[in-house]
Amino acid sequence: MDKLVVNGGKKLFGTAVVPAAKNALLPIIAASLMLDGESCIKNCPDLSDIRASRDIINSVGSTAVMHGGDFSVVYADSDICSISHSLCTSMRSSVLYLAPLLYRRGKVTISLPGGCNIGARPVDIHLDGLCRMGAKAECIADSITLTAAAGLKGINYKLRIPSVGATQTLIMAAATAKGLTILKNCAREPEVADLVHFLNCAGAKITGAGKSEIMIQGVESLCGVEYTPIADRIFAATVLAAVNACRGICLVKNYPVEYMESFEKQLKKTGLCIWHLASSALVLKTGEKAADIQVHTGYYPAFSTDMGPLLSAALVNGNGTLTLYETVFENRFSYMEEFIKLGLCCRVQGREYYQTKRKDVYIANLAAKDLRAGAAAVVAALAKRGCFTIEGVNFIDRGYEKIEQVFSALGADIRRVSVDREKANETE
Ligand code: UD1
Repeated sequence: MDKLVVNGGKKLFGTAVVPAAKNALLPIIAASLMLDGESCIKNCPDLSDIRASRDIINSVGSTAVMHGGDFSVVYADSDICSISHSLCTSMRSSVLYLAPLLYRRGKVTISLPGGCNIGARPVDIHLDGLCRMGAKAECIADSITLTAAAGLKGINYKLRIPSVGATQTLIMAAATAKGLTILKNCAREPEVADLVHFLNCAGAKITGAGKSEIMIQGVESLCGVEYTPIADRIFAATVLAAVNACRGICLVKNYPVEYMESFEKQLKKTGLCIWHLASSALVLKTGEKAADIQVHTGYYPAFSTDMGPLLSAALVNGNGTLTLYETVFENRFSYMEEFIKLGLCCRVQGREYYQTKRKDVYIANLAAKDLRAGAAAVVAALAKRGCFTIEGVNFIDRGYEKIEQVFSALGADIRRVSVDREKANETE
């Protein structure tokens, strides 16, 4: 078990490089099981969710290897069609293996997926869509088995809500189903469009990427490809939030400018300056402008629910107020308790979160309770003068490769210590 120790209050100066997006990588890696031969996904950070994806692929008889930013997959036939309970519950994206295994094996058994506790997160739309395409479902306790021995068929289907994961499941299923599929009310997130681009590179026939109606003409088979996913807009938002809260000047390379507008717009109100230079952004903050900020999160292109905690962290030293209305998940404000420990005045009423500055606190032990809440705690600790610890780093490791190195490269005083080693030293 690790924790982070932060000596906060330092301005940030230096360069950060944005890796490929976790939320694009996870579906693309799952879909690579549908591709014949070998595939290689480039620019892949070493995240615990990516390791879990590797373990899932190896556990069903194919080969996945992570090496120096390359994630390689070689598909092999096998009769294994179930994923272990522990791998399924290690992350939400285990549900993305339903469609690939159904295509490959005609049958798949998974446990209900795990992941961050940010809401109920059911999988009914994934299952409903697959069943309408011809799969038979059997649910016993928390285990789901789908069978489609004769394969799936194309359908005309409107998603109940524009779920990112369900859109990705149904795109994958339709890519090799018989006939034409038309999906309506699809998620328009850039990571969904990136999955479409990946599958099209592999030979799929999909149009409408990034739109709410997607048309998919099923093909017999897909072939292995080399692919570089889009840059991680949530990682980029984390760096912007840190510069906004700590002040300083940073160059952010591989910056996904086309997806950052809604986040940039809010931070500019508090004095952040941003220049877009080719594939980078130069980000500068010298002083605080007072601003009262009100944001509703929502489905893309609305303000991203994953960026809500980071916006809160960006404003910990702000002179105004933040009112954040969360529309996607019910439990998105687990960082509030930690921010209160840092001296902020915060409250939640239903889905509405309110935050303003109150007093300075110089020592606090914080906890990461989910991935983005954890990143928000790190940014907030970096921005406050004092000494802070952050436990629950395993949540942060799901989406950031060595977050302490990202920020120490920008001059922050942050290090990771092993709690077990600390205890061993105490007893020695
Ligand atoms: C993905 C992202 C996550 C992001 C979220 C919303 C990945 C790996 N994760 O999660 O970081 O916060 O999109 O942008 O890409 N829902 C149902 N039934 C379903 C599926 C979803 O009711 O079958 C609900 C969920 O409970 C939630 C809403 O739909 O309230 C949106 O969830 P969804 O878009 O599916 O999120 P994920 O794909 O899990």
